[in-house]
Amino acid sequence: MRSPDRDILAPPSAVGTRRQRGAGLAYSPRVSTADPLAAGNGLDARTLRSALGGFATGVTLVTCRGADGAPVGLTVNSFNALSLDPPLVLWSLRLASPSLPAFDACLHFAINVLAEDQVEMSRRFASPVPGKFDDGAWLEGVGRLPLLVGCAVNLECERISHQDAGDHRLYIGRVLRVQSQAVPPLVFHRGHYHLLGEVL
Ligand SMILES: Cc1cc2nc3c(=O)[nH]c(=O)nc-3n(C[C@H](O)[C@H](O)[C@H](O)COP(=O)(O)O)c2cc1C
Repeated sequence: MRSPDRDILAPPSAVGTRRQRGAGLAYSPRVSTADPLAAGNGLDARTLRSALGGFATGVTLVTCRGADGAPVGLTVNSFNALSLDPPLVLWSLRLASPSLPAFDACLHFAINVLAEDQVEMSRRFASPVPGKFDDGAWLEGVGRLPLLVGCAVNLECERISHQDAGDHRLYIGRVLRVQSQAVPPLVFHRGHYHLLGEVL
């Protein structure tokens, strides 16, 4: 049986054809309409979302201050490390998000990497509800950044660039300050929260 994941993730080279030696190019990739990177290939959002959900991630709350000084934040798992020297991180925000103007205007943002006992904070910040910051203990970082207490990691970042990619805006930040706590992180996989397991 063909696995849908395998079809999606197969690199373009997997559909190439090998020519005989001496007949010009030894290898000639053939662009297939099944190539997931080709435009207009009919790859549906549900299939893609399901395949990408197979990549387990941590869970973060990305926060900043809006132009009016009010705290702004949302649950994000697109966060990733980008560079060690200089220290850069990235994350992306859907273009339709009401939080977009705040993250476009802010000088700093914080990445709060949730601990396993903070799943309710993840749920709260993944909903468009008012008063997101009413619960939990918060400290202020550089530029009054909202830093959630009890996280596995808090990163305070200077926002250095952003660019649109498809239906999301990619933000890159330079890490200014780091605080780590010896608590296990929350894990997200295939639309569900998990505890971290260990390979013995
Ligand atoms: C585990 C998890 C990860 C998420 N990651 C992202 C993300 O990386 N980018 C994004 O724009 N939304 C992400 N979301 C959805 C937002 O948290 C959600 O749409 C939230 O309501 C956005 O805040 P807003 O109402 O200010 O747009 C994620 C949701 C969950 C549950």
